[in-house]
Amino acid sequence: MSQTKPVRITETILRDAHQSLIATRMSTERMLPIVEKLDQVGYHSLECWGGATFDASLRFLHEDPWDRLRKIKDKAKKTPLQMLFRGQNILGYRPYGDDVVEYFVQKSIANGIDIIRIFDCLNDLRNLETAVKASNKEKGHAQIALSYTLGDAYTMEYWTNIAKEIENMGADSICIKDMAGLLLPYKATELVTALKEAVKIPIQLHTHYTSGVASMTYMKAVEAGVDVIDCAMSPLALGTSQPATEVMVETFKGTPYDTGYDQNLLAEIADYFRPYRDECLESGLLNPKNMGVNIKTLLYQVPGGMLSNLTSQLKDLGAEDKYYEVLEEVPRVRKDFGECPLVTPSSQIVGSQAVMNVVAGERYKMVTKETKDVLSGKYGKTVKPFNPEVQKKCIGDAEVITCRPADLVPNELETLEAEMAQYKEQDEDVLSYALFPQVAVDFFKYREAQKTKMDASAADTKNGAYPV
Ligand code: CO
Repeated sequence: MSQTKPVRITETILRDAHQSLIATRMSTERMLPIVEKLDQVGYHSLECWGGATFDASLRFLHEDPWDRLRKIKDKAKKTPLQMLFRGQNILGYRPYGDDVVEYFVQKSIANGIDIIRIFDCLNDLRNLETAVKASNKEKGHAQIALSYTLGDAYTMEYWTNIAKEIENMGADSICIKDMAGLLLPYKATELVTALKEAVKIPIQLHTHYTSGVASMTYMKAVEAGVDVIDCAMSPLALGTSQPATEVMVETFKGTPYDTGYDQNLLAEIADYFRPYRDECLESGLLNPKNMGVNIKTLLYQVPGGMLSNLTSQLKDLGAEDKYYEVLEEVPRVRKDFGECPLVTPSSQIVGSQAVMNVVAGERYKMVTKETKDVLSGKYGKTVKPFNPEVQKKCIGDAEVITCRPADLVPNELETLEAEMAQYKEQDEDVLSYALFPQVAVDFFKYREAQKTKMDASAADTKNGAYPV
């Protein structure tokens, strides 16, 4: 204990915290006044982009996500900015051509991102190759995140082997991404110790408070030598979000892991966000249900977001009484699908299929297109083989892919450029269009209309300046 090793913190309030608690609805306008203070804390990084933020900006807030990034960068001069990236799916739901992935990485870094956290929902490292290479080329920090999950296949040997492969791939650090809050405190000791022995690159831990163990897990992970932990400022912490920044900072004060962050400064930041939290509670955007401990996530090993998706799908089908049956079906479907982790998009695919299996009264009588794609290898390789009977029932004798899925996706940037040329105002627009074609076009039209409105009002002011 004599050697000091300050733990570092990634602040998630501008990304995961509001994605987890208030459906990613925090606007750029809300963020900007506090960015300079956040920049003064001395965080390891400020997670502020990627994940669902891109989609939500365009779709619900009518904001250009690229513009948000540039504005944050403008005010955060010292702290590295971090984003979350879904491997070959970028921020979308399908594998993209390598040229789109490379261009997205290039533009993210050019607009202000320093650290790119890249993950794949099956932990198939082939789906991360292009993004990692592109980050290396653009001199960004490429962090590979392992989607943490439980199951027979996920032994310590599995985690340490994959960590070594990640280091060899040229990643700059590794993140244990525990999206469901399944990593228990003493397991964290074991896992972090094993990973620290296996690789030289830094290890970061990302978890959610959903199951109630997260702060204890961080404490054990820090004692075992984890380098960075992900926390959220208290007004948007706990529940389905991360442990609170101030609490973790205070916990390690005066120990060899002392962050050295200024609690007074953190208090000022919390003061800024607290009225916003109240506002969100009042409008119903922040549901108090998401704030408590959800022990079902430990029992059924499904992420909090997936539980609420299942509830709403069953409600739509008028089959709410089937909730527990579906929860029990989820692990069975997951097993049929090669025991994959449950994270976007595999969580949605497994969840929807479990609902269908229960509602139809016969397993795999009805199957989604995505289920067929998973079982044809189009999302990549799973840790265990698919259940051959289920595979046969769902896809028959259709061809099964064993290569890197993106090898079958041709380069597509040129086609995309041609399709959206009439809306283009900046190079980045083609990337917004690539990810969410319809939503991006709606946004481009909105942007155009706003400009026309502004021009008109500027003309009015000008006329008004002269007495008639
Ligand atoms: Co998260």
